[in-house]
Amino acid sequence: MPGEQDGEVSKMNILELQNINKFFGQGANRVHVLKGINLTVEKGDFVAIIGQSGSGKSTLMNIIGCLDTPTSGSYRINGIEAGKMDRDQLAELRSRTFGFIFQRYNLLTSLNARENAALPAIYLGMGAEERTQRAVELLKRLELGNKLRNKPNELSGGQQQRVSIARALMNGGEIILADEPTGALDSKSGEMVMEIIKGLHKQGHTIILVTHDSKIAAQASRIIEIKDGEIVSDERKTSDFYKIEEEVRKFKRSKLETFKYRFAESFSMSIHAILANKMRSLLTMLGIIIGIASVVSVVALGNASQAKIMEQINSMGTNTIDIMPGSGFGDMRSGKVKTLKVSDSDYLSKQGFIDNSTPSVSGSGTLVYGNTSSTAQLKGVGASFFDVKGHKIALGRIFTQDEVNNIASVVVIDHNTKKEVFADNPNPIGEIVIFNKKPLKIIGVTEEENNPGPRADAMNLWVPYTTAMYKINGSTDINTITVKISDKVNSQVAETSIENILTSLHGKKDFFMINSDSIKQTVESATNTMKFLIASIAVISLIVGGIGVMNIMLVSVTERTREIGIRMAIGAKQADILQQFLIEAILICLVGGFMGVALSLLIGFGFNTFSEEFGMIFSTASIVLALVCSTGIGIVFGYMPAKNASNLNPIDALASE
Ligand SMILES: Nc1ncnc2c1ncn2[C@@H]1O[C@H](COP(=O)(O)OP(=O)(O)OP(=O)(O)O)[C@@H](O)[C@H]1O
Ligand SMILES: [Mg+2]
Repeated sequence: MPGEQDGEVSKMNILELQNINKFFGQGANRVHVLKGINLTVEKGDFVAIIGQSGSGKSTLMNIIGCLDTPTSGSYRINGIEAGKMDRDQLAELRSRTFGFIFQRYNLLTSLNARENAALPAIYLGMGAEERTQRAVELLKRLELGNKLRNKPNELSGGQQQRVSIARALMNGGEIILADEPTGALDSKSGEMVMEIIKGLHKQGHTIILVTHDSKIAAQASRIIEIKDGEIVSDERKTSDFYKIEEEVRKFKRSKLETFKYRFAESFSMSIHAILANKMRSLLTMLGIIIGIASVVSVVALGNASQAKIMEQINSMGTNTIDIMPGSGFGDMRSGKVKTLKVSDSDYLSKQGFIDNSTPSVSGSGTLVYGNTSSTAQLKGVGASFFDVKGHKIALGRIFTQDEVNNIASVVVIDHNTKKEVFADNPNPIGEIVIFNKKPLKIIGVTEEENNPGPRADAMNLWVPYTTAMYKINGSTDINTITVKISDKVNSQVAETSIENILTSLHGKKDFFMINSDSIKQTVESATNTMKFLIASIAVISLIVGGIGVMNIMLVSVTERTREIGIRMAIGAKQADILQQFLIEAILICLVGGFMGVALSLLIGFGFNTFSEEFGMIFSTASIVLALVCSTGIGIVFGYMPAKNASNLNPIDALASE
């Protein structure tokens, strides 16, 4: 209803400034820029503030728009004291109540006209479709319907200023604050902008316009002149107040939806920022890539070597304890001490915690078959020996307890013996060989050893220990008792029990024990220590990578300080800014993390193809941990720069070049 006056509305003071003072600088440089300003602005008014350069117009305008704070005095908006509001409430005001039009437009250069105009609605929590539609509508009204997709550098000054007017109106713009809106424009574009502003006044927007041009000021309803920070004249020309018809400022969304749209915006801004500096982002990621790749690869290599060592240890037999005569390997009399007896083994095998126990005697001698003769190791063992030591049978069978009891002349030969002696005979079962002049019948052949020890090509023969004692060696001395401990029993406990049992049987401790389980534990803990050590070194490279990320984020914040200022001026809260930079840091680290994992998988693939000895073993846990780590690095090292950015004062951020 243009021209329709509304007496009710005109009485409402929308802005009230009382004794506002503003100082800049410290100590000797301290200047008093605003000196006790008293000013009230009514709803629907059109106020021009005029004055010479340096008189304090912009300073006053920034305080009115809550971009800056006064040093002293009271400032009320709709009756609410601005000094008592927190930063989020001020952001809310800038978002919903004020619409800024700057002399230098202050559009975001990376966004096109439509996106720039739509920007404030993001901080209102409006969905993409809805806000684009509204932005297009506003731009069309401002005769920019054909420039929707142009970036600021593809627009003339006048067109850019109209985009910024559309942006000011996006969230309603109840109070339009225009600081020299025509200052950078030629007279024709300037006139067009002034026509638009006058039109807005007629639609009910409260307008505060700063200018040093008295011809422009003359178009307002009220002219306030300031000089050296003081109001020197305040003159009303017309009193046309209009009622606002805008609906947008009533726009409300649920908290969750608002968060969703804001988060989506922060996310897409971060991607924008990363892609805008591809090379720089990649170089920053490189630190993370190398860090993650080295951690994951080192852990995989560690796993592989540990698995290899454990495999070798496991081939010694699982959970066995070897009991030997003497006081240790270093015992000089070891060969001569004969303290273990078959009865000891029998006694032990009756214990509940022992699965079985087998004595063994050993010796070397000459093995003769046909006209071949060779040196071989002979071991007299019990029937359970093969099971205990994990030797598997390839051909025939192992000997039975009956054969042990009956001192049978049977022998199990190993793969080496079969290869040497029976090169042409695929099945030597049933053949008779002569060992130390005693005939033995072959009943079984063991499988080739996966992990032959130091004597890989030695020929091994196994006979019942009774046969070895009574038929071959002619003595009942035994070298070792090998005990297999029940799976349910702790091997340390078993070791102590055996020690107690044998010590009480013998009256003293005249034997020593080798526990395969303790060897396993020792090796495991040694390799774990090694793995931890190398991984810590790799972690250092991760930290270095993280510092790189922090560095680049600090640069990014510095570069985009002005953008931060603009976003804050149109309603971004601290959390929005924090979120945007934090997401950016996390994204860089996470993408770097994924690339690092991919790189190490690639290294692993190459390694496993060329190395037959052993392959890298990747664990899902280490990969997940690596990705969690890289996200963590993003958060830890990105937080400080992001926090810095969000703590910026809107006016300081805006003033930066
Ligand atoms: N951040 C600041 N630190 C120190 N002094 C400042 C700062 N901002 C403004 N001033 C000083 O305050 C005074 C008023 O500045 P302001 O920008 O408000 O002037 P103005 O009236 O808008 O001038 P113009 O018409 O040139 O834009 C100037 O003397 C200026 O030097
Ligand atoms: Mg100024």
